[in-house]
Amino acid sequence: MQNYLLPDWFSHNIPSFSEIKSLLPNRNRVLEIGCLEGRSTCWILQNFLEADGTICCIDTFEGSPEHTDIELAGLFERWQNNVKSAICEKQTCNVQVNKSYQGLANLIKDNESFDFIYVDGSHTAPDVLADACMCWGLLRVGGIILFDDYQWQWPEPLGELEYPKPGINAFASVYRDELQVVISNYQVAFRKLT
Ligand SMILES: C[S@@+](CC[C@H](N)C(=O)[O-])C[C@H]1O[C@@H](n2cnc3c(N)ncnc32)[C@H](O)[C@@H]1O
Repeated sequence: MQNYLLPDWFSHNIPSFSEIKSLLPNRNRVLEIGCLEGRSTCWILQNFLEADGTICCIDTFEGSPEHTDIELAGLFERWQNNVKSAICEKQTCNVQVNKSYQGLANLIKDNESFDFIYVDGSHTAPDVLADACMCWGLLRVGGIILFDDYQWQWPEPLGELEYPKPGINAFASVYRDELQVVISNYQVAFRKLT
């Protein structure tokens, strides 16, 4: 049984994941950037990843600027315990406690590749753009990358570049010949064509 102390910022995204599942016959290798307490990690393990599949996770487990008002002590231990209670015997979960830039560089160096990538780490446009470009090389042809919070606006007015959207739009614009939009609502997802 999983133990969550923070608000549920995941369940409203399940329809996007379910749609992607129906579009993606091979779901053996998944990469997740931004895990928090493990709500998304555990849902992927129990509902999306193949029974002998591998999920690689990257998170600093230090929270993000929008988490200043919440208690983050013990976050990594909570994520670990939640994953332990959700994972099947033949599934594998690898975690890097790291900034996504460094974690992705390690995966690139190791020639890893993935069928599905979920990007929900830092929400600033420069960070999301860097995550997107690095992830693109790790995504298999035919694979899908999903970005959370495409339409997110924090109540407090921030500069435009504090939000994911400009980073995702810049990525989609430059890589337009290699991708197909498969979901566009609060979240956005692209299939890799070549
Ligand atoms: C919105 S939460 C993830 C929520 C999770 N996907 C879920 O649905 O339950 C964002 C996470 O990204 C992590 N994070 C923020 N900036 C990061 C960075 N530059 N690299 C890696 N992780 C980062 C935070 O520690 C936090 O756990």
